Amino acid sequence: MRELILKTLQQEKHISGEELGRRLNVSRTAVWKHINELRSLGYQIESSTKTGYSFIKGTDLLLAGEIAPGLDTQIIGKVVKHFDEVSSTQDIAAGLAREGAVEGTLVIAEMQKNGRGRKGRNWLSLPAGGIYLSLILRPRLMPSQVVQIPLIAGIAVARAIRKSVSLPAMIKWPNDIMVANKKVGGILTELSAEIDSVNYVILGIGLNVNIPVSLLVEHTAGAATSLINECGVHTSRAQLVRSFLSEFERTYLHFLSSGFSSVRNEWKALNNTIGSRVKVSDGTHEIEGEAVDIDNDGFLLVRMENGNVSRIISGDVSFLSGHR
Ligand code: BTN
Repeated sequence: MRELILKTLQQEKHISGEELGRRLNVSRTAVWKHINELRSLGYQIESSTKTGYSFIKGTDLLLAGEIAPGLDTQIIGKVVKHFDEVSSTQDIAAGLAREGAVEGTLVIAEMQKNGRGRKGRNWLSLPAGGIYLSLILRPRLMPSQVVQIPLIAGIAVARAIRKSVSLPAMIKWPNDIMVANKKVGGILTELSAEIDSVNYVILGIGLNVNIPVSLLVEHTAGAATSLINECGVHTSRAQLVRSFLSEFERTYLHFLSSGFSSVRNEWKALNNTIGSRVKVSDGTHEIEGEAVDIDNDGFLLVRMENGNVSRIISGDVSFLSGHR
């Protein structure tokens, strides 16, 4: 009901409580209660005895009512669960997935107390300025193909940044989102599967949007940046989330129907890794060489000193001398 009231207020210039209640089939008191809730969420709504309620200004929170207007997807982000503070959106999404939540359900939070990164690392999740989201996916894939999902999510994040913020975001294999050679976002995929089928995938995205870089440096030793630090202006997080959801749905559906090979060139056009001298570490082993390509499964191909090409499924890439 709150979302419907908001939508109607946004469409009309002025509307009386009585008319709002009549249109939505609720009492004037219920309307008044919802309006007060919206105000406490940061919406500016004026009321006058003459003209009724007037919508003045939205909020910067990532509420369903901020994300939905203009969202052009069919399945991704059609259901939004918003939280002020969570431990990790990954855990909330996994709980909802176990309870049967539909594919595309979006869990989004203003901050996380225990944001998780890849390989057991923490993900700094400061309030007011980041995007912390998890999507529930139910792809009909073999579990082994799920490693390709973060790669296609990387395409969607980089394209959304390029479109919404006009910064040349790049992907560092497998799925770090980079601007000016610093990490601005990351992707974490968690999976529940049987031997031969996927129950659900939780795709987590963290993005430093309007966070002052001084706060990031304090926590991340200078390897990270934020969009505001790179472009100098405040970005609408809701608009960026919408753009991501739309890019993701397009790429994901294409990938599901035609395989990773059909989006591989898009990934290649956005990556900063192929053609560079790299060191790749999986936590126990390290190899060095030239990243020459990714294959149709999304593996990184690294040509080593001895000329052999190693095929790598996952790891952390760092650049050796001569990286652009
Ligand atoms: C990485 O290490 O690069 C991946 C970071 C992924 C962070 C996101 S924020 C939303 C979601 N919830 C989490 O706890 N982690 C992911």
